[in-house]
Amino acid sequence: MRKDLIAGNWKMNATHLDAIQMVQKLSYRLDVADHDRVDVVVCPPFTALRSAQTVIEADHLRLILGAQDCHYEESGAYTGEISPGMLAKLSVSYVIVGHSERRQICGEQDSDVNRKVKAVIAHDMTPILCVGETEAERDEGHTADRVASQVRLGLAGVAAAPVASIVVAYEPIWAIGTGRTADPDDAAEVISLIRTTIGEHWGDAANTIRILYGGSVNPGNIASFMAKPDIDGALVGGASLDPDTFASVVRYWM
Ligand code: PGA
Repeated sequence: MRKDLIAGNWKMNATHLDAIQMVQKLSYRLDVADHDRVDVVVCPPFTALRSAQTVIEADHLRLILGAQDCHYEESGAYTGEISPGMLAKLSVSYVIVGHSERRQICGEQDSDVNRKVKAVIAHDMTPILCVGETEAERDEGHTADRVASQVRLGLAGVAAAPVASIVVAYEPIWAIGTGRTADPDDAAEVISLIRTTIGEHWGDAANTIRILYGGSVNPGNIASFMAKPDIDGALVGGASLDPDTFASVVRYWM
């Protein structure tokens, strides 16, 4: 039985002061039943992690802290970077790795993504490995190849035991921040292909690994994705910035 996971990726939004309010407001909107049903993760920018952590711990909230990226080295001359050890020390549980904005804007390659996945796992945190095709790749019929290869390369050399408990987010690039969502049937098909790829390389890990959909998810469309048995949750960008809206996404079944 895979528990649903809904993660809010705040991207480069919210100061540490905003984050305190956002976390508090979100927690007021959710109750025990929500948390029993869904793992609710918030991924603020690095500068807001400490504030979010403090609120979560002080108020004993069941919100789970995530980060949006990390470096693969533990320390050293990497100006501007944040190491996995620094995140682990802040009680970060999930780290988004290989988001398409980092692949496209910062030039991250599958080999970088793979090193980050391993570094996150080595610190007992859970990577949320993002994969997804561009619009051109989709139009040319390359979605399956592209996504399967990102999964294989992103997880290369990782043992089945950790793969079983990581998270993959399928985010078609053309659906991110555009208001254009994938058709839930199409998304479910790609996600089932990801599960098959995991099964081929990591065996039974395919049954427990959680695979999310991401790309313009909102309170109006979340239920149609969650209705698909292979879709275990969502990675939410824009709709995670307003606590009321994000809470409505989390409470999609109500
Ligand atoms: P979006 O972003 O929900 O704003 O499309 C999703 C993401 O980038 O994870």
